[in-house]
Amino acid sequence: MQPLAPNQQLLPLTACVNERGHLVIGGCDVVELVAQWGSPLYIVDEVTLRTACRYYREGFKRFYPGPSQPIYAAKAWCCLGILAMVVSEGLGLDVVSGGELTTAIRLGVPPERVYLHGNNKSQAELTLALDYGCRIVVDNWHELKTLAQLAQERGRRVPILIRLTPGIECHTHEYIRTGHLDSKFGFDPSQWPALVDWLLGQSYLECIGLHAHIGSQIFALDPHRDLTEVLVDYYAQGLQAGLPLQAVNVGGGLGIRYVETDQPPAIADWVRVVSEGVTQHCQARGVPLPLLISEPGRSIVGPAGVTAYTLGGRKEIPGGRTYISVDGGMSDNPRPITYQARYQALVANRCLDPIAETVTVAGKHCESGDILIRDISMPLTQPGDVLVVLATGAYNASMASNYNRMPRPAAVVVRDGDAELLVRRETWEDLLRHDCLPLRLELAESCDGGRGWGD
Ligand SMILES: Cc1ncc(COP(=O)(O)O)c(C=O)c1O
Repeated sequence: MQPLAPNQQLLPLTACVNERGHLVIGGCDVVELVAQWGSPLYIVDEVTLRTACRYYREGFKRFYPGPSQPIYAAKAWCCLGILAMVVSEGLGLDVVSGGELTTAIRLGVPPERVYLHGNNKSQAELTLALDYGCRIVVDNWHELKTLAQLAQERGRRVPILIRLTPGIECHTHEYIRTGHLDSKFGFDPSQWPALVDWLLGQSYLECIGLHAHIGSQIFALDPHRDLTEVLVDYYAQGLQAGLPLQAVNVGGGLGIRYVETDQPPAIADWVRVVSEGVTQHCQARGVPLPLLISEPGRSIVGPAGVTAYTLGGRKEIPGGRTYISVDGGMSDNPRPITYQARYQALVANRCLDPIAETVTVAGKHCESGDILIRDISMPLTQPGDVLVVLATGAYNASMASNYNRMPRPAAVVVRDGDAELLVRRETWEDLLRHDCLPLRLELAESCDGGRGWGD
């Protein structure tokens, strides 16, 4: 039997239990990590993250006879350390904002491996991308015309890709579905002939590729197979019309296992389906194999990450639920409240204790909906225990907020028994960093203004 790929596992690949019954990841006792770094704590297993990168890179080498470039969708988690690991594994980057792009530039990622996306890039973001020399994936006419102007001002030909809405439905949450026609992203396919004509007349824009992305956390392979046909069709038409197309970007979207019942396909199967699709459709149309770009995010970083919390209060409702509360919640993981996302968890200091009850894990924010996990089986826990929520590497840190003025957690990367900081924990003082208090709003010495509040 084939070993499960990282995206098919609930736990990071290096997870085990030590003689104290504690969860160990990357050779580090998670209870000790929390004692040292505090909680909530994002923990990234370097081996799992690098393994996922290699499954993509090596999969394309094995299944695709043409050139390929997997690029990591930085929106899943963008910080210097995560980007450094994926880039050192040979991946490029998909960035969607000036902030993500600046992180890539600071790291020194070669510009030809960086692709800027977004449905409303600002002039400043386009300028930064042009000066850096990365690839720009153009989303709409306004952007296309702005870019043509900026390229002309610089007097040089700028390579671009065009994002198309492929008209493919897939079964995932509507907020993370992007390939259906009624989407804010990309050019509608009905625009394609006009787009080709317009692009052929441009001296400063060089359309080198096409892009589409159908959505995220997708378990079915068929929509991705269908996407290759749609994209290769447009690629063949574009070539025939005279566009200098060299690349086809099939986006990301492969799902991961969050709970026992999730059964995502292996990374290698996704890569095979996409590779075979592009190859067959190119052969059928007699066009050269393009550079095949893919943009996985979740399946690279999701399974590598866990979040460790310290348990606090407990509420038992007679005849109802039992709630146990953690010291974080929707500010460090907004997915449950946003997408009704489900998670699995375990108690890091009680890995060998028997399951004893069903509880609901509540966050500490002032929202009734701030529930991380509903009705999960657990051993008996106590305040101070360390609860670890699994598969939180993607769209957690990157979607974290300061709601309720909660400082965002620290993140560490673990490997071979060492833990090192990826992101420092914010402090309460950090939260005041950007506040400005106009002089006229400063409170007088006696802040009740003599009106006797509090009497
Ligand atoms: C354009 C684009 N590419 C790639 C991704 C990454 O998707 P995933 O994290 O599901 O692999 C996304 C995320 O939604 C996206 O919008």
